[in-house]
Amino acid sequence: MMKNPDESSFFSEHGCLTDSFGRIHDYLRISVTQSCNFRCAYCIPNTNPCPPPAGNSMSAAEIYEISKTFCALGIKKIRLTGGEPLLRKDFPELLDKLGALPVQLAVTTNGVLMDRFIDCFLKANLLSVNVSLDSLKPERFFEITGENFFNKVLSNIHLLLHHGFHVKVNTVLMSNMNKDEISDFIDLTLDYPVHVRFIEYMPFAGNNWDYWKVVGLNEILESIKRKYKVVKLDEPKNSTAKKFQVKGHKGTFAVISTVTKPFCSDCNRLRLTVDGKMRNCLFATMETDLLNALRQGKDIRPLIIAGLRDKKKERGGHTEMSALLNNRKMVEIGG
Ligand code: 5AD
Ligand code: SF4
Repeated sequence: MMKNPDESSFFSEHGCLTDSFGRIHDYLRISVTQSCNFRCAYCIPNTNPCPPPAGNSMSAAEIYEISKTFCALGIKKIRLTGGEPLLRKDFPELLDKLGALPVQLAVTTNGVLMDRFIDCFLKANLLSVNVSLDSLKPERFFEITGENFFNKVLSNIHLLLHHGFHVKVNTVLMSNMNKDEISDFIDLTLDYPVHVRFIEYMPFAGNNWDYWKVVGLNEILESIKRKYKVVKLDEPKNSTAKKFQVKGHKGTFAVISTVTKPFCSDCNRLRLTVDGKMRNCLFATMETDLLNALRQGKDIRPLIIAGLRDKKKERGGHTEMSALLNNRKMVEIGG
């Protein structure tokens, strides 16, 4: 058992966030709200009722407390996701608090409210901002998201670039929706230093997923290579993305191949749901309730360590992708 739980260095020195497959976990993704002002077809399709606000959401102070504990255990990077994180009324306060931790901060957003938060992003020294953008055609943007904010999102991406942020554009490809736009997104990288990430469509509860709708890594690469001269880039360890660049382009592109070529062998990620439950994998079905333990004044460190110990080798132990359709919604887990 653990000795001297007040000494956080004890935990980090002993590599407490190493799982039974030797993977060191230093990256935490936190879903800070499950509300969203979009209804992306692959996430919360219109046919589904809007997810109710989580009854038991973490307050900013609780997110800070839990994050602090994770940092003491070795977490070095925290990404805030949702839902749409910028919809949280206390987002500036939250970012401010987390900015005091010895951790690199990042945000994933749909980009529509971003101009209101630039100062707050600058102050928190954000490492990178990921913006979801699945079409470069305004009508199709509307079709996918249910909202007419294409121009706003695009101008906000330019605003981020203007302020020198590292900007990643997340594009979920679906064969029945936007796969004909792959080269348009590649063209975006010609003059702008943006990092386009094509994401394979993943199954989640109620998101109308089907295997035939997935546009896989090979298909994406082949279609790009038919038109452009592609260079493979080095990937940092633990990268989920296979990275490339078209010769002469300022930006880069990558493919996140969760479905056709999972990258679990060097996964370094842990997740915290909006209601304060730790998940050791996006596809895990087991959760560890940290929020209630915190509220009861318990030490959450042993819970975190035990929750990680059960992490499965690949995709939460599921071999069939369709089994994941019973998983919680993406907005609850954090994208
Ligand atoms: N498949 C792949 N990516 C998804 N995202 C949300 N739902 C899915 C899904 N079903 C991604 C979006 C967004 C991030 C929050 O999660 O690209 O940028
Ligand atoms: Fe909202 Fe993001 Fe889901 Fe789209 S993908 S509905 S922007 S949470």
